[in-house]
Amino acid sequence: QQKINVGLCGFGTVGSGVVQILENHKEEIVHQVGCPIEVKRILVNDMNKKREGNIPSSLLTDQVDELVQDPEIDVIVEVMGGIEGTYKVLEKAIQNKKHIVTANKDMMAVYGSPLLELANENQCDVRYEASVAGGIPIIRSLTDGLASDRINKIMGIVNGTTNYILTKMIEEDRTFEDVLKEAQDLGYAEADPSSDVDGLDAARKVSLLSTLAFSMPVELDDVDVRGIRGISFDDLSYAEQLGYTVKLLGIAARNEGKIEMSVQPTLVPHSHPLASIKDEYNAVYVYGDAVGETMFYGPGAGQLPTATAVVSDLMDVVKNIRLGVTGKSSVNPQFEKSLKSSNE
Ligand code: NDP
Ligand code: HSE
Repeated sequence: QQKINVGLCGFGTVGSGVVQILENHKEEIVHQVGCPIEVKRILVNDMNKKREGNIPSSLLTDQVDELVQDPEIDVIVEVMGGIEGTYKVLEKAIQNKKHIVTANKDMMAVYGSPLLELANENQCDVRYEASVAGGIPIIRSLTDGLASDRINKIMGIVNGTTNYILTKMIEEDRTFEDVLKEAQDLGYAEADPSSDVDGLDAARKVSLLSTLAFSMPVELDDVDVRGIRGISFDDLSYAEQLGYTVKLLGIAARNEGKIEMSVQPTLVPHSHPLASIKDEYNAVYVYGDAVGETMFYGPGAGQLPTATAVVSDLMDVVKNIRLGVTGKSSVNPQFEKSLKSSNE
């Protein structure tokens, strides 16, 4: 194939980053995948919004069928957010033989299994690295690098917005509302930031990681969730005086054949590496039978780190298209196992 055409759903923080990386790293990308990758159409909500950068307005549309039904579009990159409506869009795209790259943990935590199953039936690839921990390749690490191990526990900071809030409140003596507003302006927060501050975003990520790590069906509702709303400067300050830093930790662990999952504000001793993870950065510990303890660290939110994960997924799909092996790896074996067990 001479070039690969992409339909980009969403042109906000992450979508504009995807276009930037495809443009700025064009040479390296072509060198690695063997052909150009072109954004053919961009789906947005508001056609009248003023856009930064010099994106030709002819690329923009608010008609989803102009992407999912365009026979020249090979891959749909979904970075618009949303759950039910977005699942329907991706379902239709797969029925039209489009491969999918998404950053959408909200949708994947609910519809990951049926989406991957549909993709498998249609020989389409689905990639979702950016959905957990932004620029950290944690999904790939679990499904590739650590695939031979038996994972017993995962623990870490998987929400950038809340880590940013907790860091700035204590270090700069600022209010929760003030720092949340800044996190929104920086593009870290979700469209509805209550999913960040009340822990739901982290819970979705913990359930996705658990599905991959433990090869067991897990439900989002099984995550015991508490967020950081209501935590005051005084709470953080007393904790510091006692030798602890407050972090919103996501934990998933095997316990007597079951998986226990939680998201809770936690007192982390100053001596523990997680206490020093600041701002929007994330860090995830993975404990395996054979490998022992591993830690993955990096920017967990933000335009270019997240877009890096999206574009790397896109490149992976493009390589598969060129090799003629798409769909072969689209259903992650762990998801497949969890589907089977949940159907038994
Ligand atoms: P933004 O709100 O910045 O951008 C969303 C984009 O999608 C906008 O361009 C918007 O259009 C468009 N859009 C939204 N809904 C629709 C719709 N129904 N139909 C057509 N277009 C629509 O979001 P982000 O870029 O921050 O996030 C996008 C996705 O990436 C989300 O799933 C998020 O959870 C995920 N993510 C975000 C990270 C981050 O750091 N921001 C990190 C990791 C994942 P318009 O411009 O017209 O408003
Ligand atoms: N709102 C999310 C966060 C974006 O702050 O972590 C990255 O998934």
